Formats: sequence, structure tokens, C-alpha cells
Amino acid sequence: MTTKGNLINGEWVVIDKTFNNINPSDTNDIIGTYSTAGEAEVKAAIDAAREAFKTWQFSTPQQRFDVLDNAGTEILARKAELGALLSREEGKTLPEGIGEVTRAGHIFKFFAGEALRAHGEVLDSVRPGVKVEITREPVGVIGLICPWNFPIAIPAWKMAPAIAFGNTVVCKPAELTPGCAWELADILNRAGLPKGVLNVIFARGSVAGPLLIDGCDAISFTGSVPTGTRVRDQAVAKGKRIQAEMGGKNPVVVLDDADLNIAVNSVLNSSFFSSGHRCTASSRIIVTEGIHDRFVAAMTERMSGLKVDNAMKQGTNIGPVVDPSQLKQDTDYIEIGKQEGAKLIGGERIERETPGYYLAPAMFTEATNQMRISREEIFGPVISVIRVKDYEEALATANDTPFGLSSGIATTSLKHATHFKRNAEAGMVMVNLPTAGVDFHVPFGGRKGSSFGSREQGKYANEFFTTVKTAYTQP
Ligand code: UN1
Repeated sequence: MTTKGNLINGEWVVIDKTFNNINPSDTNDIIGTYSTAGEAEVKAAIDAAREAFKTWQFSTPQQRFDVLDNAGTEILARKAELGALLSREEGKTLPEGIGEVTRAGHIFKFFAGEALRAHGEVLDSVRPGVKVEITREPVGVIGLICPWNFPIAIPAWKMAPAIAFGNTVVCKPAELTPGCAWELADILNRAGLPKGVLNVIFARGSVAGPLLIDGCDAISFTGSVPTGTRVRDQAVAKGKRIQAEMGGKNPVVVLDDADLNIAVNSVLNSSFFSSGHRCTASSRIIVTEGIHDRFVAAMTERMSGLKVDNAMKQGTNIGPVVDPSQLKQDTDYIEIGKQEGAKLIGGERIERETPGYYLAPAMFTEATNQMRISREEIFGPVISVIRVKDYEEALATANDTPFGLSSGIATTSLKHATHFKRNAEAGMVMVNLPTAGVDFHVPFGGRKGSSFGSREQGKYANEFFTTVKTAYTQP
């Protein structure tokens, strides 16, 4: 198997130190071997991006449109192949993998358009005869630190706006899922980008993190709370622009008047699909008394019908957990939940034809919002069902969390849905929909411990990827 390199200054740099990309559905399957970038390569990538910025910042919107549009076209044309790679390296099901690749293609198309739509304002000054222009300029070299759970969509939604607005990029993909990131780098490298505008380095976080924070002008991070908090604090201390998307403990409120089918479908989707590997996953299901027992019964029945198996196999609803350490975290929390006195349904470790990290979805009933399983992000297919008296208690419970990413409600009451949308302390609110699974053309982000900095995606992405200039002119 040939070793895949790091993309530095338009060249593939292969080095002796390597790591393997392993299929979590079949641990005998090694998908590829990649070069591990060290300090020298990370620094070279930052230098290349710094050099490329000198000219790329003055590129025309048409140039940027063309590159992003070309990339989007190729991604969409190859969605079956890239979706299979994604599913094989990350463990989400094949339809989910193809869906994510499609999303990435759409993201490039959307930001191709944003490059053309970038605009400013012209105002009269308060002083006679003077004009004021407000324009947006690129920030500089942007460091992207990406997680493994969306191996193509998240690099896409960071790279595309960075490039669209004239920045240059050093991207550090997650070590667990280098495959899609390598393909993305290759696609962009052939889509017409001048050398050095996009650099992709497969480095350990402990090596790349400090160098990127030091050498870049801004950092866009998505990942765990502990790492995100560290990156945020280091970036702020160095006066760097930082956007950190960290985690969630997202609630779904199920009210007595909910359509039971909608409620159960939404919760199954956002809690268990993609093995719970989404910061938008729902993990606290807050159910009012009148529907509680019916909801739990319906969930139990539907959970028993979910097929946990090889992600690439037709008919699989839930693939494996991504790796042994995530699996340990999930099963540790399942033990903690039992010890805390909640009642467990499901959650068994499963063996399948191919050796992988298979775990049945786990639902804890009789849970409280104070238990650790309800307060700490697990990032696996594990949920707490919390019984409450009425809407008021449900809302208070939903908001009683250090996180604030996505908050859901299942109800047929316009009054409660309207009140919830205004009063949920979260960046995103979902009515009769899963908390996970977001659109690419609207802002994404949270409040409280979930996020730091301005929103990603949609037209709001320009808040992070551009800096405002106010120019006064007296002709
Ligand atoms: C989604 O729910 O569609 O890391 C996207 C994550 C989020 C993305 C969620 N930043 O899970």
C-alpha cells in the first residue's frame, strides 16, 4: 500500500513516520497508510499559507467561485465512492456517509456563491463631503482543527468559507479519519487553487495545536470540550481569533400532546443514528407524565428493531462506535448510569461477522437530570429519559445544563412550541425534528459551554472568516 502524504505548498509530502486508517466495522481492514506530519511539516505548511496569502487575498471573486464550484461538482459526482470511504473509515452507515458527502458538495457550491455575493456598505459621513465605505477583508492564515465524526462535512464547512473570502488554510484533520480529508485536499488541489492556499497536515493534535495557534491568524476548531477549552484559552491568550464548537447534552422535550410517532422517530434519529457521534445528538429525553410510559414502551420496541452491524452492510441502521477509547467511554458511562440507579434498556456489547466496536443503543429510564449520565457528554448511543410533571418543569430541566447547542421539543401545541423557541437556552431549536442534522445554508452554533466565537455556516460564516474595514474618503 502506498503511503499518502501531507499537502504542503501544492506538493504531496511523504515521510517515513506513518499511521494507519482502520475500519471500525472490521478492524482487520486497513484502509490506508498516511504520513504523520511533525513539527517541521506543520511549520512548512504555515509558511506556505503565509506566502500564498500575499496574492490569494487579492484574487477575484470569480477565481474563488471557480475553485469552490469545481470542487463541489467533483464531490457530488463522486458521492457514492467518497460516501463508501467515509462509512468505511468512520463507521456511519453507507446512506449516512453518502448523505454527508452530498452535504459537503452542497457546502462548496453555496460558498462558491458567497464569494460572489460578498458585499459592503457605503454611507455618508457625519462630516460634510466625506464618504464612508465598510468592507470585509480576509483575516489571513486560518488553522482548521477538525473532528473525526464528520470527516468530510466539517473540513468542508471550514475550508469553503475560509477560501471563499480570500484566506489561506492549514487544515489538521482528525487522526482517526484521514481518508476523506486526503480526498478533499486532492480535489481542491486539482480544482485550480494556487499552491499554498490549502495545506493539509496529518499531525498529532499535541504537535500541531500549539504551532497552529502560534503561526495562524485565526483558528476554527470542532471537537471535544476538554481540547476545545484548551485551544480556546491558548488562542485567546495569544490574541488570536478563535471559533470553537465543542459539545452538547442536547435535550428533547416530549409533551403529553406530542405525536408519539414523530417524537419517537426524532429521538431515535438524533440519539442513536451515527452511533450518537454528533455534538447535536440528543441525550436527555425529558418526558411529561401523561405520555411517559407510552413513549418508553414505543422506544423500547423500536430500539429492538434497530440493526447494529457493519456500516457498509445494506439494512444496517447503526454502525460501530469509532474506536476502542470511545467504546470504553460509552460502556463506562453505562456502568455509571447503573450505579447511579437509572434503569437500563439495551446497551450490550455485540459481536458481528466482522470484528468491530459494536454497541446496542442504550436507554436509561428513571434517570434524573442531576446524574452524571445526564450532565456529561458521552458521545455515544446512550440516553437518559427524565420524567417531569409539566411543560414548565420540562423547560427548566432542558435548560439546566452547562451546554446549549441544540434543543428539541415534540408537541402539537403552537403555544408551547412558540414559548420553547424563545426560551430554550440553545443556539438551535428543533420543533418536531431531531436535534441533529442541520442545513448547510444557515448558521450553526451554540451557547454556554457548547460554543465560543461566532457562528459557522450560511452567510454568518463571514463574521469569522473576514475582518471589517471602515474607510473614510474626502474626494
Ligand atoms: C449535524 O448534526 O448535522 O461535530 C451536524 C458535530 C457538529 C456537527 C453536527 N459540529 O457533531
